[in-house]
Amino acid sequence: MYNAKAYSVASATSPFVSTKIERRDPTEHDVQIEILFCGICHSDLHQARNEWSGMMPTVYPCVPGHEIVGRVTKVGSAVSKFKPGDLAGVGCLVDSDGTCPECKAGFEQFCRNATFTYNAPDKHLGGVTFGGYSDSVVVDQRFVLSVPSNLDLAGTAPLLCAGITTYSPMRHWGVTKGKKVGVVGLGGLGHMGVKFAHAFGAHTVVFTTSASKRDDALRLGADEVVLSRDTNEMAKHAGSFDFILDAVAAEHDINAYIQLLRRDGNITMVGAPEKPLPVSVFGLIMGRRSFSGSLIGGIAETQEMLDFSGQHNIVSDVEVIPIQKLNEAYERLLKSDVKYRFSIDMASLKSE
Ligand SMILES: NC(=O)c1ccc[n+]([C@@H]2O[C@H](COP(=O)([O-])OP(=O)(O)OC[C@H]3O[C@@H](n4cnc5c(N)ncnc54)[C@H](OP(=O)(O)O)[C@@H]3O)[C@@H](O)[C@H]2O)c1
Ligand SMILES: [Zn+2]
Ligand SMILES: [Zn+2]
Repeated sequence: MYNAKAYSVASATSPFVSTKIERRDPTEHDVQIEILFCGICHSDLHQARNEWSGMMPTVYPCVPGHEIVGRVTKVGSAVSKFKPGDLAGVGCLVDSDGTCPECKAGFEQFCRNATFTYNAPDKHLGGVTFGGYSDSVVVDQRFVLSVPSNLDLAGTAPLLCAGITTYSPMRHWGVTKGKKVGVVGLGGLGHMGVKFAHAFGAHTVVFTTSASKRDDALRLGADEVVLSRDTNEMAKHAGSFDFILDAVAAEHDINAYIQLLRRDGNITMVGAPEKPLPVSVFGLIMGRRSFSGSLIGGIAETQEMLDFSGQHNIVSDVEVIPIQKLNEAYERLLKSDVKYRFSIDMASLKSE
């Protein structure tokens, strides 16, 4: 075991403070990574503040962070995929059993024995796993991704969660040229959804509550922007969408979007609000529409998304911050005041 520097919270209402955590020494299958950048996902905030207490109560102290890019510093004797000096990425998963039907089908995120990057039982050290708000991490090579060398690293970190979470459902639901696709909520996930929908050739419409984001949405690749609180603007799109991706982190009216789907259209939730959303069954019955959810993506698909991003030069628009600004960043994230993802420059931890 060795000590790593990190930032943790001690309770749902405590601020982040500088700390030391224990990491395991790399076993033969492990890759040790010096973390260079870690994105701040809204899920980090939900969990740091125990907002998902019903589904996955937070164990404190909690070190969030699952949008990790860094450089390999050490590898175990059985590691073939990586060598010291390589760029590497780690997303929301660090382990799974590898034997169940979900794992065999490449859906490690649905494995009953999956280990999430933070706030999950740590099979090696006991306690819970600690995430990427840290200067290093040790991960089984099966869960370490190769990072394209042409991409900006600060902007690449958010691909490991925001990227795959939007890429995967769009691939699943057949987002391609000729399809009309909506993205609800222009935040960290939403802005990646716009970039991918545009890259897949779909006619892309952004739904936002923030009039000030209109020009950005168009610059990011949207063909149209709708202010979702304007019922007249919404009504113009009734019955016209093949697919809508909803990436909103808070309570909102899902039925207003179901009405916009055409026959057999689908709306997929990736946003994970704290409280249940009331769904009008009639909205679904009329038009055989469907409402579903999606969770990140499997490891092979995450690699596919990174390779696609490398080929199409897709990264997240980031505001790079030192880790000392973490508490301020959380307050701003709650106000949707970030364009469009915070990425922590881990060099700032060196002075702690
Ligand atoms: N399913 C998964 O695998 C997965 C993975 C990662 C994250 N998530 C979840 O996805 C959600 C979004 O994460 P994120 O990191 O993208 O968050 P984020 O950056 O905070 O973006 C959320 C966006 O939702 C919109 N919004 C916020 N409050 C709203 C309200 N009251 N009504 C309507 N719209 C509102 C805002 O967009 P506008 O200003 O444009 O309206 C905001 O930018 C979170 O719940 C997160 O936990 C799920
Ligand atoms: Zn996330
Ligand atoms: Zn499994």
